[in-house]
Amino acid sequence: MFIQEKGMVILFVFCCLFAGVQSLLNITLPRKQNGDVTLPCWIPEPVPKNISVRWYSAKDSWLTFGTRVYKHRTYLSVQKPAPNEWNLHIKNLAQSFADVYTCHTDTNVTVSIISLVVESEPKMEDGLSTGKYYTVTEGDNATMKCVVSGKPEPIIEWFRWFRGNESYPLNVYGSQLKIPGVQRYAADLYTCKAKNKHGEVKKNISMTVDFEPEVDVMSPVVYAKQGEAAVLSCVVQGSPLVDVYWTDKGGNRNSTWWKYWIQTIPAGNGIPVIFINMIIRPAIISIHDYGNYTCNAKSNESHVQKGVELKKPEEKSADDSLTHN
Ligand SMILES: *[C@@H]1O[C@H](CO)[C@@H](O)[C@H](O)[C@H]1NC(C)=O
Ligand SMILES: *[C@@H]1O[C@H](CO)[C@@H](O)[C@H](O)[C@H]1NC(C)=O
Ligand SMILES: *[C@@H]1O[C@H](CO)[C@@H](O)[C@H](O)[C@H]1NC(C)=O
Ligand SMILES: *[C@@H]1O[C@H](CO)[C@@H](O)[C@H](O)[C@H]1NC(C)=O
Ligand SMILES: *[C@@H]1O[C@H](CO)[C@@H](O)[C@H](O)[C@H]1NC(C)=O
Ligand SMILES: *[C@@H]1O[C@H](CO)[C@@H](O)[C@H](O)[C@H]1NC(C)=O
Ligand SMILES: *[C@@H]1O[C@H](CO)[C@@H](O)[C@H](O)[C@H]1NC(C)=O
Ligand SMILES: *[C@@H]1O[C@H](CO)[C@@H](O)[C@H](O)[C@H]1NC(C)=O
Ligand SMILES: *[C@@H]1O[C@H](CO)[C@@H](O)[C@H](O)[C@H]1NC(C)=O
Repeated sequence: MFIQEKGMVILFVFCCLFAGVQSLLNITLPRKQNGDVTLPCWIPEPVPKNISVRWYSAKDSWLTFGTRVYKHRTYLSVQKPAPNEWNLHIKNLAQSFADVYTCHTDTNVTVSIISLVVESEPKMEDGLSTGKYYTVTEGDNATMKCVVSGKPEPIIEWFRWFRGNESYPLNVYGSQLKIPGVQRYAADLYTCKAKNKHGEVKKNISMTVDFEPEVDVMSPVVYAKQGEAAVLSCVVQGSPLVDVYWTDKGGNRNSTWWKYWIQTIPAGNGIPVIFINMIIRPAIISIHDYGNYTCNAKSNESHVQKGVELKKPEEKSADDSLTHN
């Protein structure tokens, strides 16, 4: 208690000598300069003979004593352009040097308090963000993340491409884009854009929504005369699809051949839809070709099929009367 009071007396003496704290500064530096900075600390003349000065930082505590440097020697030095100055020089300023620096005399009189703010353009933290390709299962909650550093704190905005060439703002802000119960139609290219006054950075995330294959045929019964062409059409959805093909009544896979022409048309732009048509070439159909054909879609987990029956037109009127009755 007594010692503390004594300390206060000394402090008071220095207080009047130095006329109090000299600088209370906020130094803000755009990091792009990546340069050096000098934090001032000076005592008005006359300087007490054997006075010495220390620099402290909130993070690292005691940094220097006199001209000696105790921490970060590669980057820090004490410059004395005049006997009454102990300026702290920081080389190759990095974001990690953002801190509050105080310069004290060895009797604990504060000479300067400097809050050093290192500003920087946005930087994508790829390790903490979602990768370029993101796969989610239909029905799950999709979450895409863009973690961005930078000062002032960048504003992050999300866009969707709608499979086009122009990005469309989703009016979602922040580091995450969440799509609860994601549906297959949400599969697309998304972009996050992070911006502050020093610049902007963007990242593309291509989201794939996995779902089990589904098969649909355009018409379950197709009528064709002998000598005519017949088109059996099928639409397959699924992601990822391992295989899509037609089989004949014997279960044999029919690929493009002199008799059959298999037309496979992806919907394009990454839409997980494939149109697969089996066209029986004209002047080919014989009595043996009537019967059931099957459109097949396979994922690694399942195999889905739907049949089309190829019939003689003569059977049509019979079928119609059946349905009408
Ligand atoms: C420095 O910044 C702090 C926090 O932003 C503020 O409270 C203070 O007034 C500023 N000081 C000066 C000298 O600009
Ligand atoms: C300055 O030196 C004198 C004598 O050498 C000593 O008594 C005094 O404590 C010193 N003051 C400081 C602040 O080091
Ligand atoms: C200065 O302050 C530090 C901690 O804040 C303390 O350890 C030290 O004894 C003080 N020195 C003087 C001379 O009061
Ligand atoms: C999706 O999120 C909702 C609430 O946010 C939660 O109730 C649900 O269980 C989540 N679904 C899955 C598949 O994780
Ligand atoms: C988008 O692509 C279409 C077709 O490729 C093209 O006609 C159109 O000009 C493009 N729009 C932009 C904004 O690039
Ligand atoms: C994102 O993708 C679009 C469309 O392919 C492309 O034009 C753009 O350059 C990409 N942006 C980045 C940051 O990769
Ligand atoms: C297609 O099916 C027919 C039977 O209708 C069969 O004779 C033929 O070999 C099959 N083609 C191929 C390429 O598997
Ligand atoms: C084709 O399949 C349908 C339905 O599975 C069946 O009713 C019909 O008898 C089959 N036709 C032939 C020729 O096998
Ligand atoms: C399907 O399984 C095989 C073998 O397990 C694997 O090599 C392949 O990558 C899988 N395909 C898809 C689309 O998941």
